Amino acid sequence: EKGGYDYFMDKEIDEQPQAVADTLLGRISAEGRLQLDEMRMSESELRSVDKVIVIAAGTSYHAGMIAKYAIEHWTRIPVEVELASEFRYRDPILTRDTLVLVISQSGETADTLMALRHAKDQHARVLAICNSNGATIPREADAVVYTHGGPEIAVASTKAFLTQLIACYLVGLYLAQVRAAKFPDEIADILEQLSQAPAKVRETLDRMGPVRELGRLLKDEGRVLFLGRHVGYPVALEGALKLKELAYVHAEGFAAGELKHGPIALVDQGLPVVVVVPPADRPLLHDKIVSNIQEIRARGARTIVIAEDGDTAVAPFADTLIYVPELPTLLQPLVATVPLQVFASALADAKGLDVDQPRNLAKSVTVE
Ligand code: F6R
Repeated sequence: EKGGYDYFMDKEIDEQPQAVADTLLGRISAEGRLQLDEMRMSESELRSVDKVIVIAAGTSYHAGMIAKYAIEHWTRIPVEVELASEFRYRDPILTRDTLVLVISQSGETADTLMALRHAKDQHARVLAICNSNGATIPREADAVVYTHGGPEIAVASTKAFLTQLIACYLVGLYLAQVRAAKFPDEIADILEQLSQAPAKVRETLDRMGPVRELGRLLKDEGRVLFLGRHVGYPVALEGALKLKELAYVHAEGFAAGELKHGPIALVDQGLPVVVVVPPADRPLLHDKIVSNIQEIRARGARTIVIAEDGDTAVAPFADTLIYVPELPTLLQPLVATVPLQVFASALADAKGLDVDQPRNLAKSVTVE
């Protein structure tokens, strides 16, 4: 059933182009309009939304962080993102015009379910993004957008994450569509780019040989840092989470701008630091991170740089340079995450660990 793979995780990583394509399927019309038929929320309800709160745990929370950047940018509705396990303990402010977006692969995560119930008690409207048909979370939510990732068996989430990103983008674009009198060009362009995402993820996967090699090479490292800015920051957090859970490496993700506020003290000779570089379509972001790479390299870091095709500015400062296909900044996590998944799997495998079943972890966390 692993289809020739050593691990379900590697199989699921490779299934990502299909999972992304399946999650897009039927949701963008030939005229470039979004149709989320199963959404069960009226357009007038969605027009009255004045705040979005995204709630999730673990990898799904990282998808939620990326959703914030996208939804705020496209809709100008304020978005908060919160860990499910924190949400209901802080007396959150919710009204009928609050849209609570809960993201859960399994649809059974206890913290997320409890947060959903709390939101409903406060009369907020709850939209679930879920990969498991008929699970408790989609059943209790007011509406659901399913990710069509297929069953995810490895404990570490991979294809579910990419499909959650797609679902978050679709929800953001749909909100923009129902609220805007006319559909702005940028959004039409994003829809076009989204339709190319499966091919770009495939292309990324085709380049993973050197990343696997790097994972094997770094198998004795006890620490790895991950840096990113903007949507690259949650990608960095996700890369660190994968490495912690699979390879038991002390990995941390930071917003690159925070380096000088503390974490740069961790950098010493030979420390591997993975840096997610934003596309050159955002020069300000891009140039800032190039100087961050220089700063850490000057202090001895071994830099592993993930950058888009054609980005030659980073090359002089990269000990390892991994190119990913071009996508607009907000969509870049779809390709930038893939090398981090492969890296964690390869490193864990090189350590002789069980990639599919890391110690102490369960696939679905049904206790709080
Ligand atoms: C990490 C991982 C976990 C889950 C988290 C939420 O690889 O798998 O962090 O993402 O437990 O699970 P769901 O999405 O099922 O609510």
